[in-house]
Amino acid sequence: MTLTTPGARRRGRLKTFVVFATVAVMSLGATPALAAANWADDSSAQSRAEELLAQMTLEEKVGMLHGEINGNYGFYNAPIERLGIPALTMADGPAGVRLANPDVNEGEATAFPAPIAIAASWEADIAEQFGRTAGAEAFSTGHNVLLSPAADIFRDPRAGRGFEAFGEDSLLSGVMAARHIVGIQSNPVLADIKHLSAYNQETNRLIGGNAIVSERAYQEVYNRPIAMAVEGGHPASAMCAFNKINGVWACENAELLTTILRQQMSFAGFVMSDYNATHTTVESFAAGLDQEQPANYHFGDELIRLVNEGTIAMADVDAKVLNVLRPMFALGLFDNPVVTTGFDEVANASTAQTFAERSMVLLKNDNGILPVSEANTRSIAVIGADADTDVAGGGSSLVKGTDSVSPLEGIQARAGEGVTVTYSPGTDPIGNGAALLPGPDVVPSDVLSTDGQPGLLAQYWTNLDRSGDPGITRVEPFAAQNLGFVSLPSFNAQSPKLPETPREYNNEMAATWTSTLTVPVSGSYQFSVGAEGSATLFFDDQPVVTVDQASEFATNTWDVELTEGDTHTVRIEYQHDVATAPDAGSQFKFGWVPPAGFVAAQAKAAADQAAQSDLAVVVVRDLATEGADKPSLALPQGQDDLIRQVSAANPNTVVVLTTGGPVETASWDAQVSALLQAWYAGQEQGDAVARILYGDVNPSGHLPVSFPVDETQMPTSSPEQFPGIGVDTVYSEGIFVGYKGYAERDLTPHYPFGHGLSYTSFDVSATNIPGRVRLGPDGLANADDLRVEVAVTNTGAVAGSHVVQIYAGGRPGQKVDMAERQLAGFTKVDLDPGATTNVTVTLDPKSFALWDEDQDRWDTPRGSVELFLGGDVESASAVGRIVLR
Ligand code: BGC
Repeated sequence: MTLTTPGARRRGRLKTFVVFATVAVMSLGATPALAAANWADDSSAQSRAEELLAQMTLEEKVGMLHGEINGNYGFYNAPIERLGIPALTMADGPAGVRLANPDVNEGEATAFPAPIAIAASWEADIAEQFGRTAGAEAFSTGHNVLLSPAADIFRDPRAGRGFEAFGEDSLLSGVMAARHIVGIQSNPVLADIKHLSAYNQETNRLIGGNAIVSERAYQEVYNRPIAMAVEGGHPASAMCAFNKINGVWACENAELLTTILRQQMSFAGFVMSDYNATHTTVESFAAGLDQEQPANYHFGDELIRLVNEGTIAMADVDAKVLNVLRPMFALGLFDNPVVTTGFDEVANASTAQTFAERSMVLLKNDNGILPVSEANTRSIAVIGADADTDVAGGGSSLVKGTDSVSPLEGIQARAGEGVTVTYSPGTDPIGNGAALLPGPDVVPSDVLSTDGQPGLLAQYWTNLDRSGDPGITRVEPFAAQNLGFVSLPSFNAQSPKLPETPREYNNEMAATWTSTLTVPVSGSYQFSVGAEGSATLFFDDQPVVTVDQASEFATNTWDVELTEGDTHTVRIEYQHDVATAPDAGSQFKFGWVPPAGFVAAQAKAAADQAAQSDLAVVVVRDLATEGADKPSLALPQGQDDLIRQVSAANPNTVVVLTTGGPVETASWDAQVSALLQAWYAGQEQGDAVARILYGDVNPSGHLPVSFPVDETQMPTSSPEQFPGIGVDTVYSEGIFVGYKGYAERDLTPHYPFGHGLSYTSFDVSATNIPGRVRLGPDGLANADDLRVEVAVTNTGAVAGSHVVQIYAGGRPGQKVDMAERQLAGFTKVDLDPGATTNVTVTLDPKSFALWDEDQDRWDTPRGSVELFLGGDVESASAVGRIVLR
């Protein structure tokens, strides 16, 4: 199959064609990447580093072990010009290069699909090409370190940064991370694997959030992808995380940084701390931290003093400096000074689009409604508050793209001139962080008016008593703000349609919102005010509900019966009169639960548009970001109801999820004809969506994370498990994370791990399975003995790609619990209609093993193991047994 991307329309550019003639059929053990040369074996790098070290003063050595605050880079390490040592110039990288320097390339780089999408391609080659391309962009925009990949397991679908990594499975994550590193380091650019470790949530991350996790679960689930990445990708650096693990800060955790990372995993590079995640000098130094970032509070003058007084040995400083210098030499940083020449934006945009197309997952497709029938589709209603912009996850992985194609633009362009494409938002804009505040949805602009305009009159002061003129007076669609980390300029993925509230309103500030509410339907209403700080709702000038000096966001409610057509005045007074909690800030939300019969006017308008069209495409989104976990899996701001209204009006309704991970779809799923998970698909998302909807590209992504029916079903549903009680998060599900947890509790998720539909069909059978396999002295089988041969036939009428998935079964009757099914190997094949291919999938020995806490090593229980083959974990069927001896 040949996949090409169309010529670009935006900026009048002609895009270069990227051709994946056939994506290489690969098996795990035999991938070239996992056998990549290890820079640590480069003896000349060691000797050059030693020579240089011999000339360095103590101050210069210590200078290599801490960052410098430098406006142009998030992380930075000053050069030592006297010795010709270049600066380490770092950029964030999980979804492309986040240029902090606006003077280079106007601050723009290619916004690639988020890593969760890369994982959904199940193509290690894409992970590597992504690394290679982003690494080259980093280099050509002045960087020699790319802070990527994140290999954090998507333990709970509410986790704010799940989209920044490769999903819930260790093997898939490990393969993707390893190959991504190989790609990055094919440039003179150091990769940085992060965040070590058990960094799986945002709640409490800056205040000692403590992951309480067993050694076995840690090694099998959380460390395994990092170990695979270190072994297969040889990253030059690793970033220790903000959190604590079993009571000890990650960046001063000797077991993590020395016993596991250096000794067990033979990591040869340097460990840098996440932003201000260094808390001590002596403890962190001894535990294995090499470099404090981004400043020098602990590894600067204090370190020099401790060396001078003899508390810390010079030899130990030298060892850390060598950890930094060795990869700098081996990976070419001395020989290849960075440049700011820019890169081929057109070619890289095209690459990003191809990745997006290979990663989108068709979750359902009733009656073959997709691909869109061009003959029968003369009118399309595109609906969704951000269907006309592009959607991305927020935080340090947010990239300012070189281009932007919204789903509306993509569909308009693809549909062509004879087709009427209309647009209606359907809801107020999703964003300004309100979507991350718990409690009921905001009261929408549909029922509020101020001087004839929908919404409320907002006034803001930078003092608590509203003295002087307000600094801001404007009409806003709803009353909500969230100025914590999630609204940091340049980290902020909120809807561009909402006016920004400047940072000075994050501290001592007051706001008043006033409006007239017209009751849309008679019945019982519940109004709520949620605030960090104090807030009161005045209804017809009477105070009806208040939050009083809440130091963390708190919500109070008021119930009232109202009559349709009546009008009431509403006034809300909010003061941020408490100290700002870390990652939080001034936070307020005016919410409601209307009676069941309420239909928002904007949703009604969208449904009317849908009723007059041959096809309705509803593009919905969430707001996932660093700095906050999602309060729930419901789509924010009335979008669930919007889908219900539109699909009731037109049976040909397709929903496109532009979300960072699973959302709850069960309440409307049966009503819609097709559902496409597009993820945060990067800057070319619109063209990729359109080409999949029209069948120019046959969808081939598969879920790297399970979709629960609802929040009560997740393996981490109890509050002790997520987000924790106090600062403690108890990983009591042990190894039963994601799909392993559903199986353990006999629960069927809504869409299982591995699921993904195609416009064609495949016949898959195992043609050869090894019978008996001997275990080695290390307690593991040899990968070469774990090859399974599989025949795949495309039995449909169009070309398509199939992800062959093989799961190892559990061992009922064993003393130690093992997952009922565990991903053991996978590969993706591209096939023309009628074609058959035979592929060899090499299974990963660790998928048959467990971490033995007594022996501190992997071990494989002997006996017979069932293998399951299929297109997702639930429907994979038994194909034979391997006997391990
Ligand atoms: C994030 C890191 C990131 C760093 C620099 C931190 O807040 O946790 O992933 O690399 O910021 O931007």
